[in-house]
Amino acid sequence: MLRNAKCYSTNSTNKKGKSGNLGLIMKALILVGGFGTRLRPLTLSVPKPLVDFANKPMILHQIEALKNVGVTEVILAINYRPEVMLNFLKEFEDKLSVKITCSQETEPMGTAGPLALARDKLVDGSDEPFFVLNSDVVSEYPFSELITFHKSHGGEATIMVTKVDEPSKYGVVVLEEETGRVERFVEKPKIFVGNKINAGIYLLNPSVLDRIELKPTSIEKEIFPKIASDQKLYAMVLPGFWMDIGQPRDYITGLRLYLDSLRKNSPSKLSQGVHVLGNVLVHESAIIGDGCLIGPDVAVGPSCVIEPGVRLSRCSIMKGVKIKKHACISNSIIGWHSTVGQWARIENMTILGEDVHVGDEVYSNGGVVLPHKDIKSNILKPEIVM
Ligand SMILES: *[C@@H]1O[C@H](CO)[C@@H](O)[C@H](O)[C@H]1NC(C)=O
Repeated sequence: MLRNAKCYSTNSTNKKGKSGNLGLIMKALILVGGFGTRLRPLTLSVPKPLVDFANKPMILHQIEALKNVGVTEVILAINYRPEVMLNFLKEFEDKLSVKITCSQETEPMGTAGPLALARDKLVDGSDEPFFVLNSDVVSEYPFSELITFHKSHGGEATIMVTKVDEPSKYGVVVLEEETGRVERFVEKPKIFVGNKINAGIYLLNPSVLDRIELKPTSIEKEIFPKIASDQKLYAMVLPGFWMDIGQPRDYITGLRLYLDSLRKNSPSKLSQGVHVLGNVLVHESAIIGDGCLIGPDVAVGPSCVIEPGVRLSRCSIMKGVKIKKHACISNSIIGWHSTVGQWARIENMTILGEDVHVGDEVYSNGGVVLPHKDIKSNILKPEIVM
């Protein structure tokens, strides 16, 4: 049986107030869903939305973008450890002055159930449409374009869609090209019907909530097709890049796409210099030694120490990591506060959890290493190291 949702808030004062954006109250629901199993071992240390992406917890990229279009309250639909999330996000709640609350499901509710569960929060004092985002999705979050489009078509809901090369692996959204009105959905089409798929970013009128019952429901399979058959569902092609970074390979691809987009939109954020190749993001508190070669597609987080002569490419180095002299890392993720020994070679989707210590000259080919381990011998083929 479904019990009442437990709601936590880190915020005792109500910041909605009268000040700010002319009484317009916009809200957003972020669907956290799942335990982040595919991003283990990183998700053994923090809930999935708090895993760093490009030097910042994934979810902060979303919250900041929402804040930029005037969202005043973000509700996280989450199924476990809400207190960890909220404690962490408290700091940002004040910094960004966005109210952040949780709506916790006590049993899995699918992708629509959480909306019904958060109903009171979503419609409280507002007739405005609200955003729904999937927490694994990275993009340029073109929310103001989405609002403009949504208000122009007069429908009930707008979904963002993105073009993919192999639509047969996805659910394809078929739309009327001129207006963007969604005609139908085709799950894993055998013959070509289009190449646009649901990007997991929506703007919905409160009336959509009337279509959702408080039980496990899929918004993609049950709710959107109904709105489409009422001719009230529209889709907008997402400008810029899109990636679901819920698993390591896609996370690394997402990092490349994100850095490409930074290159186009705010190139001054990227590193430059003789030691840099292609797009590289280095936190201002990180130290890079002499004679390193970093890039392309690398993020080096806060307080990292990269000793002289290190080679990094296509990798994410999280906060507080130390990479010793002449180590070489490619296509890998190095978790918080880990160390990599000198002359070590780490490659092929190796993922080190938090606080892992790799010895000097050790080789790792796709090792997935749980937190707090010491690795003293080579990992010759992709495997999980417990
Ligand atoms: C790299 O990892 C993949 C699996 O993730 C594996 O199939 C492939 O053999 C590995 N490459 C090498 C050179 O071992």
